[in-house]
Amino acid sequence: RPIRSPRGVPLFGHTPQIPSTNPVEYFGRLSKQFPEGLYGMEIAGIEQVFVWDPDLVAEVCDETRFFKQIDKTPLAHVRDYAGAALFTAHQHEEEWGMAHRVLLPAFSQRAMKGYFGQMLEIAQNLVGKWERKEGRPVNITDDYTRLTLDTIALTGFGYRFDSFAKEDLHPFLNALLQALVESLRRSQELPMMTKMRKADDRRYRENIRLMRDLVENVIKERRDGKGTGEDDLLGLMLEATDPETGKGLEDDNVRDQVLTFLIAGHETTSGLLSFATYSLMRNPHILAQAYAEVDRLLPGDTVPDYDTIMQMDVIPRILEETLRLWAPIPMIGKSPLEDTVIGGCYGLKKGARVNILEGPLHTHPKAWERPEEFDINRWLPENRVNHHPHAYKPFGNGVRACIGRQFALTEARLALALVLQKFKFADPDDYKMDVKEALTRKPGGFELTVRARQEHE
Ligand code: HEM
Repeated sequence: RPIRSPRGVPLFGHTPQIPSTNPVEYFGRLSKQFPEGLYGMEIAGIEQVFVWDPDLVAEVCDETRFFKQIDKTPLAHVRDYAGAALFTAHQHEEEWGMAHRVLLPAFSQRAMKGYFGQMLEIAQNLVGKWERKEGRPVNITDDYTRLTLDTIALTGFGYRFDSFAKEDLHPFLNALLQALVESLRRSQELPMMTKMRKADDRRYRENIRLMRDLVENVIKERRDGKGTGEDDLLGLMLEATDPETGKGLEDDNVRDQVLTFLIAGHETTSGLLSFATYSLMRNPHILAQAYAEVDRLLPGDTVPDYDTIMQMDVIPRILEETLRLWAPIPMIGKSPLEDTVIGGCYGLKKGARVNILEGPLHTHPKAWERPEEFDINRWLPENRVNHHPHAYKPFGNGVRACIGRQFALTEARLALALVLQKFKFADPDDYKMDVKEALTRKPGGFELTVRARQEHE
């Protein structure tokens, strides 16, 4: 059966109708027109299929038939600065397997316990800043971005951004944001269009230079004996050899991995925390449950330790539900290894580009009751067993799933617990969600007023 498409323009396919901002939100809106759970489009000369029906997604997640596609996706452009590091490596590249094996121990649950002290230190910096801002509006997303960037840099590389000491966000973040937006844009236009945008190209290269200079400096500090944490990510990358090939990582690859972790290790978790805070503001009965949990496990000014954070039940379910409704990576790309058929009738050619749309998948009525409702009880053990096995993919799939999942969830639990222990929020301007996409997505311009909680509150 043919895969249906929205109406396009002869010769140009669908390229002209793709908005330059928030394209994935647009793809999600289009999904409403196709109850069969998939549609096709031709964008910048490339045939693409968008899929969100959980049973079709189950097939696309079968790793004997599909792999993570890099070519002709935005990630092909992210390789301009992330090279063959974990996120952007082709499955067949030797670098992927080597780095995956070398770094896996650094993401075990035991390793999380080791990072906890540094995670706490940075989370306390966030609290310190909000205490100084008492009664005034704070940009929630920017401060969570400071938190997550400082945390991955300190725990992973012993490097201090000291973001809370500065009024402006670190220039690295601006360079990164612009580079990500540019990568996304390049993947949605014909190469000749990219070539014509000379000023943008110049700025793109400058941004890449700025990010690489910073990363090279981080590595140099370690090599010069400055910085801490010899058994952190950077220590492992510089010292460890791959048990399978007996080789170490090349210098350029280490540089690309550090940059990748700085990017992948902060953008998404900052989005998760921002969307979680937004969701709590919209659901006061769940906020009350979260306060009750924090007051029970962390009474008064109790400083959280790792074991207490691991005992939490409400806050982890808030995070899981946030990842369902607001997955920070809204689309992931897969491709068939051979010509194949999905759903018993839709033919796909070897190498075709298939995009899983997280938003429509995570709200598909086949898999979720009252899909738009923020309901943390979905994540109670007795309800969880009834979930469709492929209707929830916030951390991706299979061997290419997120290596930093435990890291993100530990960091986010701790940050949210600490923030709720100390503060209450007000939303005097009645914030309306304004999603900003740049490969990942976050709320734009999300400001709340923070006030210290009193003993009896
Ligand atoms: C991969 C989501 C946090 C490092 C992925 C993928 C997703 C994802 C969806 C797969 C992408 C694809 O298939 O193209 C998230 C979310 C996070 C998060 C939602 C937070 C809430 C982190 C953190 C780190 C990290 C904290 C590092 C400390 C990575 C890396 C990969 C990856 C290196 C590539 C893995 C590979 O292909 O081998 N993440 N991530 N992520 N993530 Fe995360």
